[in-house]
Parts: sequence; C-alpha cells; structure tokens
Amino acid sequence: MAQRRRGRFVTLEGGEGAGKSTQLRRLAAWLRSIVGDVVETREPGGSAGAEQIRGLLVAGDIERWDPLTEALLHFAARRDHLVKTILPALARGAWVLSDRFADSTMAYQGYGHGVDRASLAELYRICVGTMRPDLTIILDLPVATGLARASGRGAGEDRYERMDLAFHERLRDGFNEIARNEPERCVVIDATLDEDAVHAAIVATVAERFAVSSAP
Ligand code: TMP
Repeated sequence: MAQRRRGRFVTLEGGEGAGKSTQLRRLAAWLRSIVGDVVETREPGGSAGAEQIRGLLVAGDIERWDPLTEALLHFAARRDHLVKTILPALARGAWVLSDRFADSTMAYQGYGHGVDRASLAELYRICVGTMRPDLTIILDLPVATGLARASGRGAGEDRYERMDLAFHERLRDGFNEIARNEPERCVVIDATLDEDAVHAAIVATVAERFAVSSAP
C-alpha cells in the first residue's frame, strides 16, 4: 500500500515584485507556531544542484537560452528540488512552502515565451508525476507596479526583469488563466494591498483550506 503523504505543499506564485519572498517568510513564521515543522524553499533552486542551475537562469543575456532549453533547465532544477528537498520533507510530515513551482514555467516559458503548453504539461508528468501543490497562492499586481518594486533588487539576478513589458503582461494573464482553470488548487490575492493586508489574506486562505488556526 502506498504510504500516505502527511505534509502539505503550498506554493506562492506571481510576476516580478509581487512580494512572494516576504509573504513566504511571514506565512512560514505563522504556520511554524501552529504546526512546527515548516520548510521554506524556492525555485529555481531549493537544493544544492538546483541552486547551481539557478545561476544559469537568472543572470546573463536575455537571449542566452532558447525558450525550450530554458524550460528544460527549469524542469531539471525542479526534479532535483523535488527529489532532494520537497518529497523527503513531505514524507516526514513537514509543511513545504515554495516560492514558485511549475506554474512559473507554464506562465514564463509557456504563456510568456510561447513554449507549447501541452509539451510543458508532458514535462511536468515526466519530472513530477501526478503530485500537485495542495494550495497555490498567486499574488497578482499590475506589471508596471511589480517591475518598479523589483528594480534594483540587484545581485545580478535580473535577467527576467529585463524582458519586455509585453512578456510580463502575457505571463500575468497566464497566471490568471491557470487560476481560472484550477480553482480548487489556486487562489489569487491582490498584491497591490499593503504587506500586512496581503499576509492576512494569505493566512485566512490557508486557515480555511487546511483548518489550521492560531486561535487557542
Ligand atoms: P525569483 O526572482 O522569484 O527568485 O525567480 C527567478 C526568476 O525565474 C523569475 O524572474 C521567474 C523565473 N522563472 C521562470 O521563468 N520559470 C520557472 O519555472 C521559475 C521557477 C522561475
């Protein structure tokens, strides 16, 4: 009999400057006080090998990779992240919170760069299988607002930010379409609200979905 997976897998998604990293940290702190074992991770990255692949993706010339090569690199990183970090954590009963997962490949490389979406779904099946996040929170905000917030983040990780506005508009529409197609998994939250209000909306969503609460 297959062993029952005990942990929960929650992903945060969205375009540039949506505040995912800050919100992930705050959600993790809140959850930790309730459920204890919470793993914070990110993509591309989240394992030693995937962090090395990240370096190939987030820096350098915009034209550095053709879109399909780029999608393959993201899935290679994802496979390593899944095997080394996510699945072991879920198996021991931890909650795993990931700053981005496969919806980012569908949005950025699929909707944004025009890689065939059926091929991306097939890559998902090959690399990830049938598992899905238990909940995906999409932080949505206008492209111009997000790019303004993200600009100057520095650290040489601005390859995607430098891509044109139309690209960012397509991926925003992509995330919203993904949410419409999978309403049982995805919740869209307005990321133009202030940080505390976004945190409160995320906590309310998680509390409702999983019946966890900080109330005594
Ligand atoms: P980050 O800025 O959220 O850390 O993510 C790094 C960049 O990688 C971000 O601009 C989005 C991009 N990305 C993709 O294009 N496809 C993917 O599958 C993932 C996970 C990220």
